[in-house]
Amino acid sequence: MKLSDLKHVLVVGAGQMGRGIAQVCAQSGYLVTLSDADWATATAGRDRIIHQLDALVGKGRLTGAAAAETAQRLTASTVADAAKSAQLVIEAVSEDLVVKRRLFETLDATTPRDAILASNTSSISITELAGFTSRPDHVVGMHFMNPVPVMKLVEVVTGLRTSDATAALVTDLAGHLGKTVVRSQDRPGFIVNRILIPMLNEACFALQDGVACIEDIDLAIQHGLNHPMGPLRLADLIGLDTVLAIALVLYRDFSDSKYRPAPVLRSLVAAGQLGHKSDCGFYVYNDGKVQGPNPAITRLRG
Ligand code: CAA
Repeated sequence: MKLSDLKHVLVVGAGQMGRGIAQVCAQSGYLVTLSDADWATATAGRDRIIHQLDALVGKGRLTGAAAAETAQRLTASTVADAAKSAQLVIEAVSEDLVVKRRLFETLDATTPRDAILASNTSSISITELAGFTSRPDHVVGMHFMNPVPVMKLVEVVTGLRTSDATAALVTDLAGHLGKTVVRSQDRPGFIVNRILIPMLNEACFALQDGVACIEDIDLAIQHGLNHPMGPLRLADLIGLDTVLAIALVLYRDFSDSKYRPAPVLRSLVAAGQLGHKSDCGFYVYNDGKVQGPNPAITRLRG
């Protein structure tokens, strides 16, 4: 398939990454189906994208007409209903091998034989995901950054059997979406998370070792290194469950103790304090705004 043949993109997973991917694809002119296991979740995801488009109109970043056309290109559906006519699937379900395996097996059985199956996985092996299908040449990594509409990068990850044509198609697509593309081999964490996750994890260790408080760790990196936000705030934005899942993949696949996840990170995830999306992580949030550091962390540090 050439990029000019691609009209329809099926995005599976209506969480923050899936919604962002669906939004940028629809804004770039593609017909997009946003799907999830059930129709209500998919529809709620579509509604949140439309809310986001309205906010862009309010800020004068998008015309009302462009927002309305984008909304018309976006539909919500279940995976079962949308798969049979898919040309390109981009999956953005949770970073869990069991969940992804089940999805790739379903997609392989239900999408047309020549459909491309792209994964937004942030760390799981593309070769392994491809092994769950009968079309490993059509499976590829397409790793977007959060928040997708703002961040410029897409990592295109080729598995052992990804064909050149498949890699070329998603590279062209990412370029058409206005993204900068880098190519990564299929190694744990690819490029960005191989480097980012150990940094975020080290910030967690620094916190629990009492080097500094949450705000000072973040201020040090934000103002000392000119990062847009500090590492603990960024971990909250990504989602602490996702950060932990990636850290565990690095730890397991490299078999190197330097990647072991910090206990404070494990504790917050166990407590369901997953960051921005649950209004509490290293910080407490209200309506997306930071209210202050999480008081429970002081107790965790003892
Ligand atoms: N969706 C869409 N747009 C968003 C957004 C979102 N979730 N969050 C912020 N924006 C937009 C805002 O609307 C605003 O747009 P305008 O300039 O048009 O008003 C712009 O981004 C700036 O936002 P804010 O003024 O609210 O705040 P900010 O200047 O602090 O920027 C930020 C917010 C863009 C998130 C910035 O802090 C940043 O770049 N942080 C680092 C993000 C990062 O590193 N992401 C990569 C994470 S790693 C990853 O994703 C890979 C993985 O697998 C874990």
